[in-house]
Amino acid sequence: MRIEASISLVVAVLALGVSCTGAGDGDSAAAVDPLCEEGFDPTWQTWGKGFFVTYCNSCHAADSPNRFGATEGVSFDTYSEAAQWAPRVRARVLESQDMPLGGGVKDEDLYLLDIFLTCGL
Ligand code: HEC
Repeated sequence: MRIEASISLVVAVLALGVSCTGAGDGDSAAAVDPLCEEGFDPTWQTWGKGFFVTYCNSCHAADSPNRFGATEGVSFDTYSEAAQWAPRVRARVLESQDMPLGGGVKDEDLYLLDIFLTCGL
């Protein structure tokens, strides 16, 4: 629900014709996504690392004693690994919602993950 709400907000902001440009540290020099201007600033250090430890790394840490079959090489121990896998993280956690196995990600964390993947990497 909160993701839908945030999408509506993004659409509303775009409809108002608000446009912003800026350098940012993302991979695009184009307009800043309005999602990045909501006042949350989840970075790897302040939020991302904790998210992956909490929800993913029991299976996805490189040194996990039991990966439960998690794909070899898909680990989220570092910023660069998370950045490398960002499109798949978005696909599995936000779109198909079949990761983590068993689910359980709080709505608030799904919302922050969307912001993190859009603005914080
Ligand atoms: C209980 C163990 C477990 C947890 C926790 C878990 N995964 Fe996985 N993950 C797997 C398994 C097993 C596979 C391989 C099978 C598959 O792809 O469905 C996998 C594969 C993946 C892949 C590679 C396949 C692809 O679609 O590109 C990604 C990316 C991924 N997981 C993301 C995540 C993220 C992000 C989290 C945390 C939000 C997470 N997983 C939590 C077990 C887990």
